[in-house]
Amino acid sequence: MRVLFVCLGNICRSPTAEGVARHLAAEAGLGAVWEFDSAGTGDYHVGCAPDARAVRAALRRGVDLRGLRARQVLPADFDRFDLILAMDRSNLASLERIRPPGSHAELRLFLAATRPHGLAEVPDPYLGPDDGFEVVLDLCFAAAGELLPSAPVRG
Ligand code: 4NP
Repeated sequence: MRVLFVCLGNICRSPTAEGVARHLAAEAGLGAVWEFDSAGTGDYHVGCAPDARAVRAALRRGVDLRGLRARQVLPADFDRFDLILAMDRSNLASLERIRPPGSHAELRLFLAATRPHGLAEVPDPYLGPDDGFEVVLDLCFAAAGELLPSAPVRG
C-alpha cells in the first residue's frame, strides 16, 4: 500500500503526516506493508527540510522529520501511489486539476474518513502561532491511526 500525503509547501503538514504514519506503521509492525511519501502542490520550498517548528513539535512526540526534503507533486505520482491524501480542499482541487486521465490512485481528503475534532481539513500552521503545529500533530495521529488498520494486507 503506497500512500502520498499532499499539502501546499511540503514543509509543514504533509511531512508531519508522513512521519507520523511511518512511525505508527513501524510501531504496529506494519513497516513492510506500507510505503509513505509526501509532496507539495507548490514548488516554493523544493529541496528544503521541514519547517523547524514542525520538526521540534514532532520530535517531542518521538517522530523524526529531519531526513525529509520537500518536493512537488508529479503527474507520475498518480500511478506510483495507491492513495493520495490531500490536507485541505484547496490542495485536493489542485490535485484534481493535474491528475492524468486514466491514472489509478484514489484521491481524497486525509481527514475525510475520520473527521477528528469535527475537522475535514488540516489547518495550515505556516503563518500561525506554534500551537498550530500541535493541532497538526493531533490530527495526523488520529487520522493515520485510523488509516493503518484499514489497509488490505497484500502478498
Ligand atoms: P504546508 O504549509 O503546506 O503545510 O507545508 C505551508 C508552507 C509554506 C507556505 C504555505 C503553506 N508558503 O506559502 O510558503
